[in-house]
Amino acid sequence: MAKDKTIFVCDYCGQESLKWVGKCPSCGRWNSMKEFKAPSNSLSHSKGKTYSGAQGREEGAPVPVRDIVADSEPRINMGDSELNRVLGGGLVPGSLVLLGGEPGIGKSTLVLQTVLRLEDKRVLYVSGEESARQIKLRADRLKPHPQSLSGREESTDSDLLILTETSLEHIYTQIEETKPDLVVIDSIQTIQTETVESSPGSLSQIRECAASLLKYAKSGGVSIILIGHITKEGTLAGPKVLEHIVDAVLQFEGDQHYMYRILRSIKNRFGSTSELGIYEMKHDGLRQVSNPSELLLTDDREGLSGIAIACAIEGVRPFMIETQALVSTAAYGTAQRSTTGYESRRLNMLLAVLEKRVGFKLATKDVFLNIAGGLRVTDPALDLAVIAAVLSSNGDMPIDTDVCVTGEVGLSGEIRPVSRIEQRIAEAQKLGFQRMLIPSHNFKGIDTKQYKIEIVPVRRVAEAVRELFG
Ligand code: TYD
Ligand code: MG
Repeated sequence: MAKDKTIFVCDYCGQESLKWVGKCPSCGRWNSMKEFKAPSNSLSHSKGKTYSGAQGREEGAPVPVRDIVADSEPRINMGDSELNRVLGGGLVPGSLVLLGGEPGIGKSTLVLQTVLRLEDKRVLYVSGEESARQIKLRADRLKPHPQSLSGREESTDSDLLILTETSLEHIYTQIEETKPDLVVIDSIQTIQTETVESSPGSLSQIRECAASLLKYAKSGGVSIILIGHITKEGTLAGPKVLEHIVDAVLQFEGDQHYMYRILRSIKNRFGSTSELGIYEMKHDGLRQVSNPSELLLTDDREGLSGIAIACAIEGVRPFMIETQALVSTAAYGTAQRSTTGYESRRLNMLLAVLEKRVGFKLATKDVFLNIAGGLRVTDPALDLAVIAAVLSSNGDMPIDTDVCVTGEVGLSGEIRPVSRIEQRIAEAQKLGFQRMLIPSHNFKGIDTKQYKIEIVPVRRVAEAVRELFG
């Protein structure tokens, strides 16, 4: 057998180097290069740099694109509309999906409750973390889904196969024997392969196991879901390398103060990455939240200043989001700016617009901004709500509870149009809002008569301020 080759791989971005360096030349992190023994028969190694992107594909002659048969990808219905949507319409057979999240967030629960409901598929659940008894106890807690057609009382008479194993080679043997359609590996950090000599959870092990599983999934047509823990820094443990290997990366996030969880797609070779799935953690498992607006709005905000409601769209779904701001005189020389769930640079930009274009002096004020519910929002249509919340808190003027806003704010204080305005208006109306401020550019294209909600077009920030605060 040829000698193992030693390379160094950045723990964070996956950059490779033949010798050790203190600072990663790619991402600039210090001390992130870890020694990695690539076995001479290693999958990831033999794949080499020149083939990256062609993982798992059979080598052969080029084919004209017109001769390639590409029927729309068949999908496995996961019986969970949130999960299906985040996956891009269901699970693609033969795909390798990574589900990441902090320990205790509910990854095992989500996957277990999903596979317990998959009745026409053979599923092998490999656990390196919990005993079969623990899994059974958990399965007992998870009630069958209300949408489940069978209406079974107990979910535990499921045919789901449980395997407690950490050796990749033994897992392959069991897969060959049981021939499942779907394999779940909980978690990738506990699995080890004989081809590399290092402890489970190490970079080499994770990389080697994932690359091997990818190849297996592609050649055998079996779908594999990997569960992976996230490190303290918030990256998928066992580095970005893993993200490069798998077909899709889903991240399960949550806020410890709230019982709901957000499933986000970070990478998806078969679908969009802007989709969100929302769940609520109950004592008997995760419940899908199909109308997130109701959950995200506090009922009792009458008379409170610093709150503005926006209609944002993440993925395909519009929902109403509560934006909260607190503006107070800076106690020390420099004013603080702090945001949760919103980009802080964007907040600084909006404060500059307020100062320059509307004449509010906020330079000596601390500004705290929070998107309620632990949500992270990137839709620029939230800008107007941020401005409204900041001014509401600054002047201690509550905004009427039946008013909502949507609009992107430009550098000259103009309100720029937003995408899919009809959907946003419909959502606001559905939730009982009476009045909605929208960009005047959007106003031109819509038929206002079809809505009960009063629609107010605004061109500039100053105009919106007059509409909201008189
Ligand atoms: P778990 O799925 O074990 O998290 P992970 O696999 O991401 O580490 O979830 C653990 C938490 O979920 C634990 O604190 C208990 C809670 N939980 C519920 O609230 N309801 C339930 O039905 C289950 C099974 C777990
Ligand atoms: Mg777990």
